[in-house]
Amino acid sequence: MKYAIFIVLGILLVIQVIRPDFTNPKVNPQEELHASVPVMKVLKSSCYDCHSNETKYPWYSNIAPVSWFMADHINRGRKALNFSNWAMIDPKVKLSRLKRVNHLIKRDLMPISNYTWMHKNAILKPKQKKLLEEFFDKQIQKLKKS
Ligand code: HEC
Repeated sequence: MKYAIFIVLGILLVIQVIRPDFTNPKVNPQEELHASVPVMKVLKSSCYDCHSNETKYPWYSNIAPVSWFMADHINRGRKALNFSNWAMIDPKVKLSRLKRVNHLIKRDLMPISNYTWMHKNAILKPKQKKLLEEFFDKQIQKLKKS
């Protein structure tokens, strides 16, 4: 029984060799989203870690298995919606993602809760929610017209 702690530590040590690739892909200024300063500020502080190529990695991103969950969030987040490739996203795909965005924001489903647990400043305040909702509504109207 007293060896259990060494076994757990041993496993933790061994799994550290499996390291996700955390190099951020390049950002092309012609492809990335350009919005007003206040909108960009909210997106960067609440969404960019998973929905852009400008992810900021905290110190614990080096520690497995946390790093594996993080890599999964980032990969799935970028696949769902990447503000760094904004201009290149197929308009139909973009529209379908954005149609869900305000619902996600209203219900506090984005940013996801196990992220806000460690990033309290990413939690959207009512004013920030309103700002994003107005921004995304405008984007939706634009997409519907084109
Ligand atoms: C910790 C990572 C993380 C953060 C931060 C985050 N998201 Fe996400 N987001 C995800 C993941 C993961 C998915 C994909 C979910 C899936 O695969 O079903 C996603 C999906 C989405 C989608 C697509 C939903 C759909 O059903 O198509 C939208 C829109 C979205 N996020 C908006 C946002 C917005 C806006 C913010 C900031 C306010 C944000 N997210 C912050 C991880 C994150």
